[in-house]
Amino acid sequence: MFTSNPFAGLSASIPTVYMQGYIVVMFLLVMGGTILDMLHKKSAQYFFANAEKAQKSAKREVSGGEKVAMATAVLVKEVLTSGEFDNPRRRISHLLTMWGTIIFIVTTAIMIFSPGSTSTLLPQLWHIGALMLAVGGYWFWFFIRADVAAEGLSSFRLERADLFILSLLATSTFALAWSFTGGGVGVLFALFILSSTVLFGGVYWSKFAHMFFKPAAAFQKRVIMADGGRENLPPDYDLTDPEVQRKFPDVPQYMGKNPPNMGLCIKAERANHY
Ligand code: HEM
Repeated sequence: MFTSNPFAGLSASIPTVYMQGYIVVMFLLVMGGTILDMLHKKSAQYFFANAEKAQKSAKREVSGGEKVAMATAVLVKEVLTSGEFDNPRRRISHLLTMWGTIIFIVTTAIMIFSPGSTSTLLPQLWHIGALMLAVGGYWFWFFIRADVAAEGLSSFRLERADLFILSLLATSTFALAWSFTGGGVGVLFALFILSSTVLFGGVYWSKFAHMFFKPAAAFQKRVIMADGGRENLPPDYDLTDPEVQRKFPDVPQYMGKNPPNMGLCIKAERANHY
């Protein structure tokens, strides 16, 4: 079951060219939805205006070489390994969801565009991708997302912001159920196509486009730290450093002679409030 291509049996009822056309339309919907989202929220405009403003507080020029190193670090840390998540459960769940989605989408496209392929690896990867997405997604939905885990709200309370995760979950669940019940054209296939159309057609209303915006934001964050601008936040002073003590002679007045260790602060308990 895991090794058979569920799309192969469909070609008797649905011409391959229609299936290929569907993939192209979904791709265009994602592009269009992302552009509309950017225009509506003015996120690109804000991003560049903010970058220009931040540059005015820069203390030094960041070289092209440093920018290449930063872009590589963003790719390796924030993009490929979800390194922005401090909480390990959130990070693992995001890794499963993200890589599951990528594997599932890429293998779907390859199988549909190469209908003659007899590869058993592609269907296996397709099922593994869908399973990873379902495991990471249900874990997030029932146990990790802030309104349930931290605010104690019901897992079944829905908001428009849930469109992305719910359409991801529906797509993977119906895809697996469709394949495990023998494929073909039927109710499960219709639900699979409906949920994937909502996923790719709903970009404008969902959080889908974060996967394109977050890397740019992560890069910009590194630039403002490297150029000394720090969004006008003060530097991280070491209060035991005599140089810092000379600069701020009034610190002992309100923190004593040996500024105390401020403790773990927000890390004193498990990150559970957002
Ligand atoms: C196929 C690609 C991806 C999928 C399927 C995916 C999926 C998700 C999901 C389901 C959430 C939770 C959203 C919610 O609150 O409803 C999320 C949040 C998040 N994702 Fe992704 N993601 C992807 C790519 C990326 C990339 C490339 C980055 C960063 C470079 C990223 C960074 C984040 C961050 C920081 C959050 C949490 C903060 C927030 O909700 O804004 N994601 N992602």
